[in-house]
Amino acid sequence: MEKEINIKFEIIANKNQLGEIDKKLYEAAFEARQKAYAEYSGFWVGCALLLENGEIVTGNNQENAAYPSGLCAERTTIFWASANFPNVKIKKLFVVGAPKNAVESTPIPPCGACRQSILEYETKQKEGIEIYFASLNGEIYKTKSIRDLLPFSFDSSFL
Ligand code: THU
Repeated sequence: MEKEINIKFEIIANKNQLGEIDKKLYEAAFEARQKAYAEYSGFWVGCALLLENGEIVTGNNQENAAYPSGLCAERTTIFWASANFPNVKIKKLFVVGAPKNAVESTPIPPCGACRQSILEYETKQKEGIEIYFASLNGEIYKTKSIRDLLPFSFDSSFL
């Protein structure tokens, strides 16, 4: 027997179509990207989260001369959010990534390890986290839940 899994995502053609809060989050991710520490790859990534209490938390990728010791923007940001606001739900996550001096890019989705980390908090809070991955040009892909980016996900329900 063969089965199929369908995922849904939305394409937002231009950031100007975003509502006020979402535009603010896009700009926050963009600004965070400009503060990335990514000297080794030259690939700069920024992330912004919206928490249920209205707080916006930002972060970026942090690299290291011992390459695997670095961390992606999404995990830097979501770990900080959980460390400082442990019981506040995360509503949205915006991420934008591109080579340092790029002026154009396509939407960059979170890497596999970041998807797994985001899933942990989505499972914990029992509510979806909207994921927006944005390009420098303003085109944005959106999913309603990290599960759309991680079919066959492994979470605490198996333990
Ligand atoms: N990176 C992120 O920050 N997020 C992702 O989802 C993909 C990759 C970072 C890790 C590394 O610092 C650089 O981009 C190149 O892989």
